[in-house]
Amino acid sequence: MTAKLIKGTEIREEILNEIEGEVKQIKEKHGAVPGLVTILVGENPASISYVTLKIKTAHRLGFNEIQDSQPVDLPEADLLALIDKYNRDDSIHGILVQLPLPKHVDEKKVLNAIDPDKDVDGFHPVNVGRLMIGGDEVKFPPCTPAGIQEMIVRAGVETKGAEVVVVGRSNIVGKPIANMMLQKGPGANSTVTIVHTGTKDLEGHCKRADILIVAAGVPGLVKPQWIKPGACVIDVGVNRVGEKISEKTGKKIAILKGDVDFDEAKEIAGSITPVPGGVGPMTITMLMRNTLKSLKFKLGIE
Ligand code: GUN
Repeated sequence: MTAKLIKGTEIREEILNEIEGEVKQIKEKHGAVPGLVTILVGENPASISYVTLKIKTAHRLGFNEIQDSQPVDLPEADLLALIDKYNRDDSIHGILVQLPLPKHVDEKKVLNAIDPDKDVDGFHPVNVGRLMIGGDEVKFPPCTPAGIQEMIVRAGVETKGAEVVVVGRSNIVGKPIANMMLQKGPGANSTVTIVHTGTKDLEGHCKRADILIVAAGVPGLVKPQWIKPGACVIDVGVNRVGEKISEKTGKKIAILKGDVDFDEAKEIAGSITPVPGGVGPMTITMLMRNTLKSLKFKLGIE
């Protein structure tokens, strides 16, 4: 059996088209567009490419977008003042501070300074709490977990009563996706287990999973024989394992490998996300959706 491929690149296009249509309608009816600012401190190459893609996507959708690039030695107090400025700016509905931040800056302090009602990353403790409560309380689900849930739903995988096993307990992926999948409601209502480096029988837990979500950051951690035949496998791992020359551009690019042995796993799973082109494209897509949501909350139409 060969698994159905859950392609993030295709789902991204569907969702971005939906957002684009909604932005046009809101602009006509209310004269407003979503505003997103990305704040980048320093010149980390990976961060620059992420931020550039976020801004490009926002531009394509007709958002008001600002890329605010700051020097690597920007004092923490100046960064907090900058956030305060955007917190007060009515044309901005989403504020994203690109992580990681330079060592002299206290990341927690910075994330806590963002107005929770503009925190489209969903990293502020208020939004983490809202997610935990679930239902109508949730304003901005964190982008990668929101993308994962959207992929599972759009792939037509039954979540109600499903055994979901999440490998990894990070604040950005593992903990929030586990929380989201156990909530009552559509696209969730699952029985959830989180496994991690302290788990005794990783293999045994994985083998029980109807939906296996792997976000460990360890290339090839999950072996094909750990997968229950027919399971849905979501591989969040994006591990750089080498470099190659791109056939398209002739430039050096990273060779990426997921946390799951894809070639063998796809012969056992019922559905599976590839790496690259799986979960990756969904994160920015959900950031756009959260920014649109933020405007809609402000207009009282969400
Ligand atoms: N750095 C890597 N991923 C992310 C993300 O989703 N949000 C922010 N703010 N920084 C990141």
